[in-house]
Amino acid sequence: MKDNYDLVVIGGGPGGYEAAIRAGQLGMSVACIEKRVYKGEPALGGTCLNVGCIPSKALLDSSHRYEATKHDLGEHGISTGDVAIDIEQMIARKEGIVKQLTGGVAALLKGNGVDWLQGWGTLVDGTGTDKKVKFTALEDESETTITAKNVILAAGSVPIEIPVAKTDGDRIVDSTGALDFTEVPKRLGVIGAGVIGLELGSVWRRLGAEVVVYEALPSFLAAADKDISKEAGKMLKKQGLDIRVDTKVTNAEVQGDQVVVTSESNGESSEESFDKLIVCVGRRAYSEKLLGEDSGITLTERGLIDVNDQCKTNLDGVYAIGDLVRGPMLAHKAMEEGMMAVERIHGEKPQVNYDTIINVIYTHPEIAWVGLTEQEAEEAGYEVKTGSFNLAANGRALAQSEAQGSIKVVADAKTDRLLGMHAISAGAGDIVHQGMIAMEFVSSIEDLQLMTFAHPTISEAVHEAALSADGRAIHA
Ligand code: FAD
Ligand code: NAI
Repeated sequence: MKDNYDLVVIGGGPGGYEAAIRAGQLGMSVACIEKRVYKGEPALGGTCLNVGCIPSKALLDSSHRYEATKHDLGEHGISTGDVAIDIEQMIARKEGIVKQLTGGVAALLKGNGVDWLQGWGTLVDGTGTDKKVKFTALEDESETTITAKNVILAAGSVPIEIPVAKTDGDRIVDSTGALDFTEVPKRLGVIGAGVIGLELGSVWRRLGAEVVVYEALPSFLAAADKDISKEAGKMLKKQGLDIRVDTKVTNAEVQGDQVVVTSESNGESSEESFDKLIVCVGRRAYSEKLLGEDSGITLTERGLIDVNDQCKTNLDGVYAIGDLVRGPMLAHKAMEEGMMAVERIHGEKPQVNYDTIINVIYTHPEIAWVGLTEQEAEEAGYEVKTGSFNLAANGRALAQSEAQGSIKVVADAKTDRLLGMHAISAGAGDIVHQGMIAMEFVSSIEDLQLMTFAHPTISEAVHEAALSADGRAIHA
């Protein structure tokens, strides 16, 4: 540890650790302060690598393979014996992936000359040229004040807790607990039909749990295009996720080895018992111990750190990024903001394009989108034209037994400019990157129509959706 750094990053999640690596590449002296202890070991990688994106995708993959092996091979003429799942092994695989990645981040920091300080960071005073940061070591709780010319706050977020369903780490858990069940719950309750509810609900349903998802709002996936959320609702229901919209959980309590959930819908109250209950009703920015009383940082009305479009706070040389600040709570958004902040400190002028941040929900098929939904485009005053293509008519999707879903494009009818792309399909998360790149290059629907897409691929449905925007789809 040095007394003075060019940059101190507080938080070693995807936002913070990527910022620290970039700063190292640019020749700055950098420290990254991270206090996380995962399964007894200090760990980098934040929510994403330890208890978020990566472990959830590991379980989504295992559970998908199990379900597909059990139910989908017959039509190919493949028979198997009894198919069984060893939960201990599934979780051990997930842990192996987490360890490999978080260990890799530690090696990357070292390789780029970044000091990883294991403990808590507090911005004591962010004014002036030499900002004061207090470092409290995990090992012995000793406190040291270091100075830095620049500081990036990247402390991330934590699950929102609700008083009607307090987590106990056993029967009532948050997303972290739901990544570590030791057996498949016979009946699983989920509060919140958001991204976590759909992803982790899917994991345990595929493995055999009966899953009930309670959603307080009258519809779900409100941020998605209406056609897509409607189609997603039907598909997830068909898969067996019992999503109950407009249903408010009013109480949840552990009684013996069960959680009894009381919910209210249309003025009627009912009770149901579950082996486990996952509470996933959103996340909140986490700023415990992050700011000293005289840090000088301005907060928004909602208590978030106030930043401009370049992630700069009210103080020169102090930036805040990722889940801690406005915008979607997504790892790739945090990473790009970290990169932008560091390069701005270095005197460059990059800008994150907030209009092309991709959303992906890793159900099967995946649900993904970029840019404006049809409804948002209309509200923004565009004369809108849309095109969509159903995967039932896509040869590759049929050949691989994944002919479910559709791809939709949204465009400005006056200029033909592509405004958004929305997909439910196998690999939708990868497919909509085509939309992102097209939007970044201000492509028109005609551009997509004139390009040659390889046959047979699911991407051909992007081509067909673009053709369909002008009534020219070939296979519809
Ligand atoms: P974080 O990853 O939360 O990292 C912040 C770090 O700062 C933490 O490790 C914390 O310990 C540390 N810290 C906090 N305060 C201090 C302090 N004072 N001193 C020192 N250290 C501190 N996003 C996606 O894009 N794709 C996905 O598929 C996806 N899946 C998810 C699945 C789940 C179950 C969950 C919970 C989240 C998922 N997310 C996903 C969201 C993603 O994890 C976050 O958006 C991302 O991790 C935010 O990165 P960050 O760097 O801002 O914060
Ligand atoms: P979310 O915001 O996606 O969904 C929460 C849902 O809970 C909403 O539909 C909301 O209406 C509902 N809700 C809120 N209070 C409720 C209550 N009292 N009773 C019933 N329903 C209630 O939040 P979630 O799923 O917890 O995920 C948090 C964040 O993590 C996401 O917003 C996303 O940013 C990130 N994430 C991203 C993933 C991805 O990119 N694939 C995967 C998982 C998480």
